[in-house]
Amino acid sequence: MAIRRVIRMGHPLLREVAHPLEPDEIGSEQVQMIIADMVDTLHDYGGIGLAAPQIGESLRLVIVEITGEPNRYGEIAPIPLTVFINPVIEVVDPATRGYWEGCLSVPGLRGYVERPQHVMVRYSTDQGEAAELELQGFSATVFQHEFDHLDGKLFIDRMTDSRLLAFEQEFERYLLPTEEDSGE
Ligand code: NI
Repeated sequence: MAIRRVIRMGHPLLREVAHPLEPDEIGSEQVQMIIADMVDTLHDYGGIGLAAPQIGESLRLVIVEITGEPNRYGEIAPIPLTVFINPVIEVVDPATRGYWEGCLSVPGLRGYVERPQHVMVRYSTDQGEAAELELQGFSATVFQHEFDHLDGKLFIDRMTDSRLLAFEQEFERYLLPTEEDSGE
């Protein structure tokens, strides 16, 4: 297991459509080592999700881990460390909501992106079993962001107003939603 370098925007691999894993590849030592490296890398960089292309592996493989502790997105519902292989996302309700997204491959920037808030995810586990997960709210946004990496897309591609792209320092100073703004 090893901490890998997260490639950044401008690296062509982040713009490629990643390859699906064949069923007999999923349990292979090579894939299990990539997963272990992704976990080490996510923990070292600090983040809530990582897609295999971000460590230079063109595979349809994502890990997500949302701890219960407040992070840069505030307090959100926890998701234990989970591996998603060949995930497919279906929008259940197209109504959108925006969040200020960040990405380990676009370090130092935050951008406001609106996405559907109710989706169904179908995927294979790291044991090769079929599974599904229904997601609402912020976690629906997280998964759409991560799965976009498998299709060569970054959050900036989903922005509709480029004025809402900011460096983190300026974001916190001028744009961070206040308590009153974020009331639902
Ligand atoms: Ni990302």
